[in-house]
Amino acid sequence: MLRTHTCGELRPDRIGSQVSLCGWVDRVRDHKGVIFIDLRDRWGRTQVVVGPDADSTTLAAARAARSEWVLRVTGTVGARPEGTTNPKLATGAVEVVCTAIEVLNEAETPVFQPGATDLPGEEVRLAHRWLDLRRAAMQDNLFLRSRIVKIMRDHCDELGFIDVETPMLGRSTPEGARDFLVPSRLDHGSFFALPQSPQLYKQLLMMAGFDRYVQVAKCFRDEDLRADRQPEFTQLDLEMSFVEADDVIGVIEGLVRRTAREILGLDVALPLPRLTYDECMERFGHDAPDLRYGLEIVDLTPLAAESEFRVFRGAIEAGGRVRGIRVPGAAGRFSRKELDELTAVAVEAGAKGLVWLKVEPDGSWSGPVAKNLTGIAAGLQERLGCGPGDLALVVADSFEVTCKALHTLRKRLGAELGLYDPKAMNFSWVVDFPMFARDTESGGWTAMHHPFTAPKPEHLAFLDSDPASCRAVAYDLVINGSEAGGGTIRIHDSATQEKVFKLLGITAEMARERFGFLLDALRSGAPPHGGIALGIDRWVMLFGGLDSIRDVIAFPKTQKASDLMTGAPAAVEPKQLVELGVRVVAPPKPAAPRPEGG
Ligand code: AMO
Ligand code: AMP
Repeated sequence: MLRTHTCGELRPDRIGSQVSLCGWVDRVRDHKGVIFIDLRDRWGRTQVVVGPDADSTTLAAARAARSEWVLRVTGTVGARPEGTTNPKLATGAVEVVCTAIEVLNEAETPVFQPGATDLPGEEVRLAHRWLDLRRAAMQDNLFLRSRIVKIMRDHCDELGFIDVETPMLGRSTPEGARDFLVPSRLDHGSFFALPQSPQLYKQLLMMAGFDRYVQVAKCFRDEDLRADRQPEFTQLDLEMSFVEADDVIGVIEGLVRRTAREILGLDVALPLPRLTYDECMERFGHDAPDLRYGLEIVDLTPLAAESEFRVFRGAIEAGGRVRGIRVPGAAGRFSRKELDELTAVAVEAGAKGLVWLKVEPDGSWSGPVAKNLTGIAAGLQERLGCGPGDLALVVADSFEVTCKALHTLRKRLGAELGLYDPKAMNFSWVVDFPMFARDTESGGWTAMHHPFTAPKPEHLAFLDSDPASCRAVAYDLVINGSEAGGGTIRIHDSATQEKVFKLLGITAEMARERFGFLLDALRSGAPPHGGIALGIDRWVMLFGGLDSIRDVIAFPKTQKASDLMTGAPAAVEPKQLVELGVRVVAPPKPAAPRPEGG
């Protein structure tokens, strides 16, 4: 045995024992000939003391030791002298008085010190991820992830879910993103698609009679990345037979409550609040609203229609809306320059401009367009609930643009004005999503969730008469304004499925070719079924109070979908391309030199 204890284990009850510890040198201090080494491992840190009376080999090793060297230290556990204990450290009452040091490995001077407080930029951290992962904060994040996944697995296991693995090499499973493709070597010109989700497989498992399925599933989506999106991410994917939306929601609410209790010691009241999609868009301009603060959107259209103001009238005459938010007490908060910045935020979100108005102490509006409010000034204050000292932000545009601009402003102001406790957790469901959205490019319909989602039974006729009004049996879990999960009840009869395919522009031939197996299975005795997938990376980020999912993934990709450590994606040998029958149109980049021994 190399060690008797870990670096996080020793307490005063061990004083006097002979111990051996292994770990990395976190810090070495030479204090008037007494050398202190902080030895670190996954479990914690322990102070090792090498006194001047240690033997010469031990002394030499202690003097030579540098940050990140790997040592095996043997010695006796002692009490730290009075006044030198460290209550912040679990092992802070003791130290190991060293009798022997074995250098298990030396280390070159690290690019950055995992124990240091000042960190290099994220690119450096990602390129040297193994060092970054030695940091206590990153280790904590991955432990948190492991704990959360265990809670998820235990919860589902106790409820009778069976864990089934589904293929990585398959056919496209449409979730609205681009596929990652894998060329077939045996059938040139044919490609596997990595799963965007296990959607169809899990539905087939229901048709096969498994009743309750769960999987911690890797998903791949080639889409634009953000702080909460990765090209490769993990879902807690589940599916249930003979259920309605409330049954699936109930399983997840139980999990929310259990996770909040076990991880944060928080008591979440159930059932969670539910908002409809339409209500979310009206009140918050977004389908995953952050409900930790107000700044709700107010519709001003009927009032604005009475005004002569060109900006308002123009938007309304074009079929748009005039909507705004009241920012309480913020009239004196922003300089002209900052208000210009807020205008730029709205413009960036697609708006043509931003009307900002302040209520002066005498109750009158001020601002660049205040003089244009003749006839509606008082009504505007009343609708918005504005009083002296308040700021109003108004956008006139299509409904979609007003949503996007006001949502973006709301989010920014909520954070900037500190309108919520960043530690607070808010859970809610958004339900009754539209089945379809207009595809801006083709003008046709696209599935709002995915093509296998069931319409509300009472909306079935809308599939023929008015697809835009058709609502789906769909539910998204929103945590602090982040979409933390989404699911639906599925179509379980082939006629409805074929009808939905047709609406989505998938012809009968295409449907047969791509989804023939599903249509056949639906005709072979398919139970009513539905499910959900939770974004595990996002759950860990949110429960950990973190800003980026990259911090909860051991080896994540950058915003440009590359791995800075391995250099993936990379050019491959021409021979491999020939084997795969693939010709690259862009001139291939020279293959990076292989690492030695690779
Ligand atoms: P959906 O596409 O809503 O549903 O995905 C479910 C959840 O997965 C997370 N998520 C992501 N996390 C990180 N990076 C990404 N690129 C990413 N994309 C999605 C989100 C999201 O809520 N098959 C359906 C589920 C179902 O209907 O049962 C599906 O995949 O947290
Ligand atoms: P303009 O006459 O276009 O310079 O606009 C006058 C004021 O109205 C400016 O402060 C613009 O930012 C603002 N504005 C212009 N278009 C809109 C719009 N669609 N919604 C809200 N404000 C707008």
